[in-house]
Formats: sequence, C-alpha cells, structure tokens
Amino acid sequence: MPHKIADDFPVLNQTVNGNRLVYLDSGATSMRPVAVLQAIDDFYKKEGANPHRGLYDLAQRSTEAYDGSRAVVAKFIGADYEETIFTRNASESLNMIAYCYAPLVLTKGSNIVIPISEHHSNLVPWQVLCKSHGAELRYLYVDKSTGAIPDSEIAAKIDKNTKIVAFAHVSNVLGVMFPLEKLVAAAKAVGAITVADVAQSVPHMKLDLHALDVDFAAFSGHKMYGPMGIGVLYGKRKLLEEMPPFLYGGDMIEDVREQETDFLPPPSKFEAGTQNGGGAVGIAAAVNYIESIGWDAIEKHEKALMTRLIAGLNALPNVTVIGNNDPDARRYGVAAFNIDGVHPHDAATILNDYGIAIRAGKHCAHPLLSYLDVEFKACCRASLGIYNTEEDIEKLLATIPEVRRRMNFVD
Ligand code: ALA
Repeated sequence: MPHKIADDFPVLNQTVNGNRLVYLDSGATSMRPVAVLQAIDDFYKKEGANPHRGLYDLAQRSTEAYDGSRAVVAKFIGADYEETIFTRNASESLNMIAYCYAPLVLTKGSNIVIPISEHHSNLVPWQVLCKSHGAELRYLYVDKSTGAIPDSEIAAKIDKNTKIVAFAHVSNVLGVMFPLEKLVAAAKAVGAITVADVAQSVPHMKLDLHALDVDFAAFSGHKMYGPMGIGVLYGKRKLLEEMPPFLYGGDMIEDVREQETDFLPPPSKFEAGTQNGGGAVGIAAAVNYIESIGWDAIEKHEKALMTRLIAGLNALPNVTVIGNNDPDARRYGVAAFNIDGVHPHDAATILNDYGIAIRAGKHCAHPLLSYLDVEFKACCRASLGIYNTEEDIEKLLATIPEVRRRMNFVD
C-alpha cells in the first residue's frame, strides 16, 4: 500500500474498551476517508442548492456537482450515464426492479431463480412478487463445503419458464464470487433477465457491467467508502426505457397536464424529488479515493490479508471456517467462521471487549444459515476493507481463543 491507509479514516483512530479499534465489519458498512467527508462538507458549505432547478450560480454548481458525480460513478462501473440511477441503497435498487420491471415479464406459472445464499434484499422482494403473481421462487443450492453453485443446479433450475435470474456477485456471508458469466449465459439461453447484486464486489474489484452483460445491477455507496443513503441501480438502457417509474414527483417529468404526464428519460425518470446531492458527491469522492489507491494495490493487499485470515482460522482449535476454507481460494472481503459451542453473538460481544468489531448472527441471509449445517444456525463474520492491516488480522486470531476461555471452556 502506498501509505498507511487507515490514517485516511478518522473514525478508525479510536480506542474501544481501552483497546485500539480493530474494525472488521466492512461487509456491513465500510468507513469513510477524509476525502469523502470533505467532499460532502464542501457540497453543503459551498453549493447546497437544489440540483436541476435553479438558474442562479449556486444552483448551477449544485447541478454540475450532482450530474458530475453520476458521470464519475458510471465510468467506474463501466456503464453509461443514462444507465446509472441514484437510489437510497442496494435494497431500494433491487426493490425498484421487483416493483417496476419484474411485473412486465412475470406471469402465472413462471419462475424466478436465485441462489440460497442471497441477502434478504435480493430474496424477499422476489418472494413477495412470486406470491402475488402466482410464480415460483426457485433456489440454486450452493455446495456447503465450497460455497460454489454447481453447474448441475444451474442446468436443473433455469428453464423456459424462468423470467429472472438474480444473484449476488459476491456472497455477503461466504465471500465467494458466483459464476456470473455462467448465470448470464443460462439466463440468456431462455430469455430471462439477470439481476446482479454487486454490493459486496464493488469495493473489492474493478467492475465493468457492460462487459459482464448483466441486465440490472445494484449496490450501495456505504459499502465502498461512501456515505450511507446513496446507492445505485444500473440497468441496460432499453430495459430502463421500458420500465415505469418507481416514484412520481418533481424533476422526473417532461410535461404535466391535468390528466396526463410525460416522463423524462432515464436517469431522471427514476429520481423523483430533491436528490441526495451530498450523497452523490460523497460516492463520487469514494470512487476517486479508490482509484487513487488503485485496484492492483487493493486486490493484492486484501488477498494477502484474507489468505492469512483463513489460514490462521484453520490453525485455531475449535474454530471452523464456513464455506471454502482453502486459504488460497479467492474470497472477497468476508470470512465466516464459528467457534465450537459459542453462540456467535457471545463471540462478537466478547471480541468487542478487546476492541474488535465483527458481525455475528444470520447476516440478513436466514435461508442460507438454515441450509448450512452450522451450530446455532448463525455465524461470526470478519470482513475487510482497504484500511485493515496484518496487525488487525493477528489481533483477531490471537483473541479468538480468549472467547472460549471467557465462556468457561477448558481447552
Ligand atoms: N448487507 C450488510 C451485511 O451483509 C448489512 O452485513
């Protein structure tokens, strides 16, 4: 890494329960560098007017900041400007597809296919939609020891009645990357559309959505060093043109008459009401920050940390890595594990006493945790960001044995 990245993140410079904070929950939300905080502060201190509405200087500059931020984000994900919609977060983006596009293609007797490992954001909207349309929600069952989706599952589940294939690019629990190309090819072969939840991949690798050829994609700013409250819906232009608006209101209309309204084309069609200007400049600043570090450095650094983390967890007695436990297998950002006989909530609470922040529980993926053969139907999850260091990993590995001691196990 070019410099000690953690120094760019003021929030990391604190102690928790008398210990240096070791933040290992970037899968839930990543922290924000000064560059992002500064960009948001600047927007409200120097511009702060309503984008797309006023003719005075401040309003023009707000418009430029907002539209310019979209251009930065679009380029970052390999998309066109018109295909990049600002939303509140990945969940809202996925719901927009479920509410607005899916009803155009879903009929009684058709099906939607998703992996069993999906985050609720990419599961519950489809479940509700299937119920209301008399459609079937089908699951691709992952291999329990590797987290991978077997080819046989794809072949068995995606058929001529499949209208939508939705999947996380990277699982928020297992950390594995799903075979996006295979899923896209299988969906295309039956005329189904693809929806990729890239929330857990966008902070860890260069994405080119045009090259990946997914129809829709969704992610949040707050998992890629940007602020909470801004996310992105990507859609192929033709699909966004067909899709009706989600919300109606200001700044998304071309003309309104007493009984009729003409909508603006995408992206404005999907952004009713006053925009999240601070969020937009924040996510754009996060993109610029990531690019200033560079993907090669980020991927090399995170791979080294993850390899050490998995190897270290494997070496600890009474600890089981969930999903693929091969240290050399690529995992992106997250490592799930359990400590024998210890509920993950107890583990996370005890680790917090040592200043270590991990997530524990079902990780908004109840069906996955029910499907996996894991104690308590829950797990611990350590997730990494660019600011984590070898020292953070060693601190976690050295502290895990304390958890069983504190729970009165005699090992
Ligand atoms: N989706 C976030 C996570 O996986 C909240 O933790």
